[in-house]
Amino acid sequence: MQSYKIAAIPADGIGPEVIDAGLAVLEAVAAREGFALEVTRFDWGSDYYKQHGEMMPADGPEHLKGHDAIYFGAVGAPDVPDHITLWGLRLPICQGFDQYANVRPTRILPGIKAPLAGVGPGDLDWVIVRENSEGEYSGHGGRAHRGLPEEVATEVSIFTRVGVTRIMRYAFALAQSRPRKLLTVVTKSNAQRFGMVMWDEIAAEVAKEFPDVTWDKMLVDAMTVRMVKNPQSLDTIVATNLHADILSDLAGALAGSLGVAPTANIDPERRFPSMFEPIHGSAFDIVGKGIANPVASFWTAAQMLEHLGQPAAATRLMAAVEQVCAAGILTPDVGGTSTTQEVTDAVVEAVRGANA
Ligand code: IPM
Ligand code: MG
Repeated sequence: MQSYKIAAIPADGIGPEVIDAGLAVLEAVAAREGFALEVTRFDWGSDYYKQHGEMMPADGPEHLKGHDAIYFGAVGAPDVPDHITLWGLRLPICQGFDQYANVRPTRILPGIKAPLAGVGPGDLDWVIVRENSEGEYSGHGGRAHRGLPEEVATEVSIFTRVGVTRIMRYAFALAQSRPRKLLTVVTKSNAQRFGMVMWDEIAAEVAKEFPDVTWDKMLVDAMTVRMVKNPQSLDTIVATNLHADILSDLAGALAGSLGVAPTANIDPERRFPSMFEPIHGSAFDIVGKGIANPVASFWTAAQMLEHLGQPAAATRLMAAVEQVCAAGILTPDVGGTSTTQEVTDAVVEAVRGANA
């Protein structure tokens, strides 16, 4: 029987609750589809930091390398600075494993109320491709004259031809694989004359390799308007690390809740394991209440199954999730009264059922 090695890093806040829920659902899907998952848990995160002074051991990534995928919960704790949690765990994995394509599907799931009037399931079906290795998150910069009136700080965005070309190819290929074959390239090339103009130029070059993909360009500010006013006109979207970070929050809100939004940090060349996580973060205000929404962790699990080469399992899982949402079995953040456990049990049930 085909077996996959999964590294689970539940980490902080509601991360362990939604990862446990996701693993239960994944077990059910694997049993139904006839493959096995061998899960190893890593207790890294903010609690680990408080004991050891680091978010994960220095050789942490070495421990992950032999796995087929990483299933990640959330990082962030009220009593540890955000830049420590982020740069201590998540970004070293994303950047160290060169997971340069961050893929964020957004759809309005049946049963979930979306905020735009007259916009329901089918009107909003996007995939945002976020450049995940450079740009505004390159970590280049510094501070001088700290605390003095003349203090200076720089935060340098790095754009490389290699980096932009590879994400553009990924985005065009993804757009090509979707029925509408439609890509929107987002920049801010009116104001930022170097990196962003290079994005536009490389997009035009790569477009020639994909003659069947229809593509257009948007400035990021105008893009926010189009997402709200004309969501039907968009399909696949590619943007820089920071632009796509912002647009994907807007996308999540327009689809009804960030609580259901998934993300996949992909190394398309498969040199390293890719990492799958919900977008929502650690949500400390609801930890231990049993009401965390597990749908984002299910959806990202479906992305993981797709990446592992189990597309039928991914389809089965998403069908089960949609069936449960449509039946109104929802957590309070999306207007329901169900618990994490009840939603999980219902999805497991649907996965086992004949129709899912
Ligand atoms: C996301 C998040 C992170 C990011 C935060 C937690 C730093 O907002 O995955 O979108 O900006 O990358
Ligand atoms: Mg974000």
